[in-house]
Amino acid sequence: MVTQVTTGNDIMGYSIAIDGPAGAGKSTIAKEIARKLGFIYVDTGAMYRAMALFFLRRNIGENDILRIEQECKEAKITIEYHNGEQVVLLDGENVNGLIRNEQVGNMASATSINEEVRKKLVSLQQELAASACVVMDGRDIGTCVLPKADVKIYLTADSRVRAERRYLELQQKGVACDLDTIEEDIKERDYRDMNRKISPLKQAQDAVLIDSSKMTPAQVIDTILLLVEKTGFK
Ligand code: DC
Repeated sequence: MVTQVTTGNDIMGYSIAIDGPAGAGKSTIAKEIARKLGFIYVDTGAMYRAMALFFLRRNIGENDILRIEQECKEAKITIEYHNGEQVVLLDGENVNGLIRNEQVGNMASATSINEEVRKKLVSLQQELAASACVVMDGRDIGTCVLPKADVKIYLTADSRVRAERRYLELQQKGVACDLDTIEEDIKERDYRDMNRKISPLKQAQDAVLIDSSKMTPAQVIDTILLLVEKTGFK
């Protein structure tokens, strides 16, 4: 079943923003909360990744600002939901299976600093949130995309813990990897995401900080659901 954005919930426009660094567990948590509440899960990182794939396919370098600014306007990125799963379409092609690798992730981190890229994707994200109840995760959701979100979370974890989680994931997939190298990559990505000029990753003033280093996903989910309940949402 393919749907454009619709929600089973009739309180339109309720939004939960979850920001945080790479590997903090945002998508696992956001997906489960969306499922429990009957909301749409919007993975904004996937949009930056689809845009990065578009640049890579055109052999555009991460420092080629002119081409990035010009050509990002030509990328047709759309979001659909197939049986509740977010599907990112790049020029009509489902690219979900092509964007979850280090090359695309690094290109996304490097090119997401560009103002034109951000303008285009932020307006798509705001359109999605205007038409449904959403749990949206990313780097600038509480600070920039949805400044009036009903609940804002800044989800983080120690870089070593995040590296260990990623290491286990890769091991389970049979991919050879080195823990120290993964941690270095994570720290580099954090630095870039937190220090860019436009919409850097930071905790919104009214966001609740959750450090998941010593928490299970279930504990994080319960904490967030409690915050949702406190806003009067049933
Ligand atoms: O969450 P992720 O690893 O899929 O995101 C990939 C990159 O996209 C991330 O390093 C920075 C960028 N990004 C962003 O700038 N703003 C967002 N809201 C989401 C992701």
